[in-house]
Amino acid sequence: MEETLVLIKPDGVKRQICGEILTRYERKGLIIKAMKLLQTPKELAQEHYAEHKDKPFFGELVDFITSGPVLAFVLAGKNAVTSVRTINGATNPVDATPGSIRGDYALTMDSNVVHASDSVDSAAREIHLWFPEYK
Ligand code: TYD
Ligand code: MG
Repeated sequence: MEETLVLIKPDGVKRQICGEILTRYERKGLIIKAMKLLQTPKELAQEHYAEHKDKPFFGELVDFITSGPVLAFVLAGKNAVTSVRTINGATNPVDATPGSIRGDYALTMDSNVVHASDSVDSAAREIHLWFPEYK
């Protein structure tokens, strides 16, 4: 079964909407395979977002993701990677469809509530990064 790595970012945890977000994934049929709440070490944040290390927003992105606890989890299901990206909505909440998480809960890209792996290969890398003990 395909798996993907999801984070509820510090803004989502602070706003106490983890339950509402998890409900959306669960009612779609996705299965929670692993989960933890953690304060992200800076090195983990930098490694997680390594593809963006040369972008102008990299520093703020790392500061944001380490600004408070995140809820990290692995979801499994057929087409889990694409399904979760669709449920999350577009990266920029201005473009995110109402009914998606970012469309319903976010206004700006600097606090867009959720992260999900963007491919099967990214998912394997990110699951190993966040859950080295998994499998
Ligand atoms: P990205 O991987 O492109 O988006 P996604 O989270 O949908 O996979 O970017 C990672 C995060 O970086 C994104 O969720 C929000 C932030 N970001 C900015 O702050 N400014 C930007 O111009 C972009 C593209 C992303
Ligand atoms: Mg991404």
